[in-house]
Amino acid sequence: MGSLSRSLGLYICIFFISQSCLSLEEKKVCLGNTNRLNQLGNTEEHYVSLKKMYDGCEIVLGNLEITYLDLLNDTSFLRNIQEVGGYVLIAINSVRSIHLENLQIIRGNMLYKSTYALAIVSNESLNTTNALEELHMGHLTEILNGGVLISKNRKLCYLNTIQWNDILHSDNPINQISLDKSFSPMCPKCDVESCNGSCWGPGPGNCQKLTKLICAQQCSGRCRGPLPIDCCHTQCASGCTGPKENNCLACRKFRDGETCKEGCPQLQIYNPTTYQLEVNPDGKYSFGAACVKKCPHNYVVTDHGSCVRTCNSDSQEVEENGIRKCKKCDGPCTKDKICDGINMGKLKHALSVNASNIDSFQNCTKVNGDVTLLYVAEKGDTFTNTKKLDPAKLSVFKSVREITGSLLIQWWPENYTDLNVFENLEVIRGRTKQRGTYALAIVQRSITALGLQSLKEVSDGDVIIKTNKNLCYVNTINFTNMFRTPKQIKIINDNKNPEQCESEGKVCDTLCSEEGCWGPGPSQCVSCLKYIRGKECVENCNFLSREPREYTVDGRCFSCNVECLQLNDTQTCSGPNNHVQDLEMGFKMTYDIHLALCKRIG
Ligand SMILES: *[C@@H]1O[C@H](CO)[C@@H](O)[C@H](O)[C@H]1NC(C)=O
Ligand SMILES: *[C@@H]1O[C@H](CO)[C@@H](O)[C@H](O)[C@H]1NC(C)=O
Ligand SMILES: *[C@@H]1O[C@H](CO)[C@@H](O)[C@H](O)[C@H]1NC(C)=O
Ligand SMILES: *[C@@H]1O[C@H](CO)[C@@H](O)[C@H](O)[C@H]1NC(C)=O
Ligand SMILES: *[C@@H]1O[C@H](CO)[C@@H](O)[C@H](O)[C@H]1NC(C)=O
Ligand SMILES: *[C@@H]1O[C@H](CO)[C@@H](O)[C@H](O)[C@H]1NC(C)=O
Ligand SMILES: *[C@@H]1O[C@H](CO)[C@@H](O)[C@H](O)[C@H]1NC(C)=O
Ligand SMILES: *[C@@H]1O[C@H](CO)[C@@H](O)[C@H](O)[C@H]1NC(C)=O
Ligand SMILES: *[C@@H]1O[C@H](CO)[C@@H](O)[C@H](O)[C@H]1NC(C)=O
Repeated sequence: MGSLSRSLGLYICIFFISQSCLSLEEKKVCLGNTNRLNQLGNTEEHYVSLKKMYDGCEIVLGNLEITYLDLLNDTSFLRNIQEVGGYVLIAINSVRSIHLENLQIIRGNMLYKSTYALAIVSNESLNTTNALEELHMGHLTEILNGGVLISKNRKLCYLNTIQWNDILHSDNPINQISLDKSFSPMCPKCDVESCNGSCWGPGPGNCQKLTKLICAQQCSGRCRGPLPIDCCHTQCASGCTGPKENNCLACRKFRDGETCKEGCPQLQIYNPTTYQLEVNPDGKYSFGAACVKKCPHNYVVTDHGSCVRTCNSDSQEVEENGIRKCKKCDGPCTKDKICDGINMGKLKHALSVNASNIDSFQNCTKVNGDVTLLYVAEKGDTFTNTKKLDPAKLSVFKSVREITGSLLIQWWPENYTDLNVFENLEVIRGRTKQRGTYALAIVQRSITALGLQSLKEVSDGDVIIKTNKNLCYVNTINFTNMFRTPKQIKIINDNKNPEQCESEGKVCDTLCSEEGCWGPGPSQCVSCLKYIRGKECVENCNFLSREPREYTVDGRCFSCNVECLQLNDTQTCSGPNNHVQDLEMGFKMTYDIHLALCKRIG
């Protein structure tokens, strides 16, 4: 088991859902990680990716995972974090102190080991002389859901003095606090005069502030002192500075500006005089535990007015007035077949597309989550009882037009010269990313061309295409045009030297525009120099010769209606209909004559 999980570790380290920070009204929000104890690359890379994820972040929507921080690493990038939606995991760190002094609330929407909202585990089995000694969390006064685990922290001080019962919310269904005895015996005491035995650190400034156990009986939640007038509003979490719902330190449900509310202001309100629902000018969307005027970039709006990453199965994603929305389908949603990607739903625990799950991608037009191909797919995996993947099966991806997460190709059959099974892929949304960063990653493959001829958009996340020694054409593509945020970058390095490609004739077809191409031939152009028929660039549409005769709209060739009489020295048709009146303005006046050009009359 040990060696198996270690051999898998190599793959696991690439797997984590995360995104960098985005801005939410005035607070800076980041998504957080779900890597648990997996290390992301080496120590240095791990540190860099944690820093990238949390730097400056004030609200972590998912989990805050602080792991493998080294003795010398600067942890000040965590300083601004105030709220965590999921759990907080602090594990296997050898850094001396961690500063989370602004952390006020852990919501516990996701729990570590299904139980803990806060887990602090240094895990002795790692033989390091350095270990976590101080954890500054003096403002943590609320855990809405989930328990506390503090285990095997040989050098940690003070946290065993904390009254966790004050911090766990009275409605928190999980009242589990497990502290082992492994705290340092050398710890100094809490400040005797001011702290009454409970503190986060030395001196009178680090006493635990109680906001529940000391409250007057009249209070229904938190309070700021022992008197009845010190009770906080029921919408408050953590504590308050006064009695009103806008005096809260944090909000139990939703924050709308400075005010805590049970729900966000509805987008539509009922007008009792007109008996109609009308647009509420003050309506807002819910996003995490906040109300926002607009969903952040790359989020989809639901009917209920929340910002989500994927629509429910009874609705499909559409764009209306520049906003992406989940729209209820009339009957079953037929337009798209939406399937779970890696990391989602049925494939939540799969690491890679593999022989056991590839059939679930059949006929899918949209993959919710990631498409990840790792070496484990080729070799199979005895640990999860998975056979070798037959490369021919990869053709299931031909139907895929959209990936909401990311596309990672770490393994690809050696004799496949391109990724043309993804020929219909139009958009990679990058709502989940590889290594916290990448929406598209293709590294060290033997392909000669990408062949992603339909790809038009990478909505969020970076692109890395490097050390593919045979890969040509890639330098002709302007990925910047596909990006939708200014933060996105591309790393296109160490592929085949473009000059060598040129000398081998591996250049874009002459029918391609200067926008470049994904591979050889006229079907791989990003755009055409002249006309396009279906997916292929052409010199000319069949205006005057060859069959079927064609007309053009925006440079595309379309067949004339079969009812039209084929002409030899003028255009047979100018549009999809079987009459010709709009061929040229002047022809409108001689409509009858042109009707005569239709077969059934002519
Ligand atoms: C973090 O610590 C590791 C290991 O000591 C070191 O290699 C790395 O340079 C440090 N990173 C920073 C940014 O301090
Ligand atoms: C400590 O590490 C061991 C293996 O190194 C692992 O099995 C165990 O789950 C870890 N403990 C915790 C509490 O995470
Ligand atoms: C742990 O480290 C100490 C000192 O560096 C060393 O003497 C000991 O052998 C190590 N133990 C293990 C299990 O690696
Ligand atoms: C100090 O703590 C004890 C028990 O933890 C409690 O009974 C007492 O009221 C506290 N004193 C003050 C001044 O808060
Ligand atoms: C292979 O797919 C199956 C079914 O989804 C999954 O349970 C298993 O974990 C996967 N194996 C790997 C190594 O991804
Ligand atoms: C995929 O589509 C084909 C053709 O429409 C159909 O015959 C097949 O049953 C579908 N397979 C699945 C798994 O939906
Ligand atoms: C790749 O090699 C396999 C086995 O050697 C063969 O069956 C398959 O047809 C080849 N595919 C291509 C695209 O050349
Ligand atoms: C790519 O396109 C962007 C925006 O259209 C343009 O500003 C940039 O110069 C282009 N880059 C290259 C290398 O052509
Ligand atoms: C167009 O040319 C073809 C072949 O030369 C001929 O059969 C056809 O009758 C011509 N059609 C007209 C409308 O002149």
